Amino acid sequence: MSSFVSFNQRVIEEFRACGGKVGGPFEGAELLLLTTTGARSGTSHTVPLGFLREGGSPLVVASAGGADRDPDWYRNLLVRPLVRVETGSEEYEAVAVPAVGDRREELFARVVREEPGYGEYQERTARVIPVVVLQRTHEVDVAEGGIAGKLLAVHGWLRAELELIRRESAAYGGAASVGMQLRQHCLAFCHSLEFHHRSEDGGLFPYLEQQEPGLSEFFRRIEGEHRVIARLQEELVRALDAPGEDLSGRVQRMSRELEAHLDREEAQLLPVLRALGGSEG
Ligand SMILES: [Fe+2]
Ligand SMILES: [Fe+2]
Repeated sequence: MSSFVSFNQRVIEEFRACGGKVGGPFEGAELLLLTTTGARSGTSHTVPLGFLREGGSPLVVASAGGADRDPDWYRNLLVRPLVRVETGSEEYEAVAVPAVGDRREELFARVVREEPGYGEYQERTARVIPVVVLQRTHEVDVAEGGIAGKLLAVHGWLRAELELIRRESAAYGGAASVGMQLRQHCLAFCHSLEFHHRSEDGGLFPYLEQQEPGLSEFFRRIEGEHRVIARLQEELVRALDAPGEDLSGRVQRMSRELEAHLDREEAQLLPVLRALGGSEG
């Protein structure tokens, strides 16, 4: 185990030092680095993986060399779908979407055509080897810098992801089970939202309140909104695994609450952040 970890670590270092090129057993292979977040630990783990391309997205295979247990990175992304991808030339955030049903069969057949070794791995295990598409998430262009720019970038990301979930959940209607893509995007959205509100409540807002004591009433209101949204978010995550739930209705309710909340924060806080921006940027 530990020699495998240090082998991986050497590959990762070489990959980063040489713009994505790695020698030895990987000579000539196309590799990426995938960073997932531990399902239980919450810490990040990076692994080098070979990949194919599906449309514009990288496609990775959770073969674990044909072992009977899914690799840790795959178990992590089922719980925490928001991942980081590094190729030789760029690094970006993606939502990991395992292919299911016919689509998995079709993609796996293509994988085996291009890399026959994966077919041998599949023969070694009764486990259906997962195939995962890494869908790049929207990048939000914000012209502004400083904390105001950062707030707008995070809000922009949340709005865009919510829009995608709204469209998908409306199309899904009341089908028997939630599609994998919708599930993974919902989870990625909910985790990012939770993280954003935790950092507002635990860092940015106490700091701003100190700078502008006149805003304390506004912040009490915002804290209340964070609690309401946290409850909606928990219900949304629970609904993902409860067939027949009105997921679209829940997403719409979340959209209304969250959009109003983001608008309110921006209207009140952007001028304050811009005024402070010079010293805090
Ligand atoms: Fe907020
Ligand atoms: Fe916010």
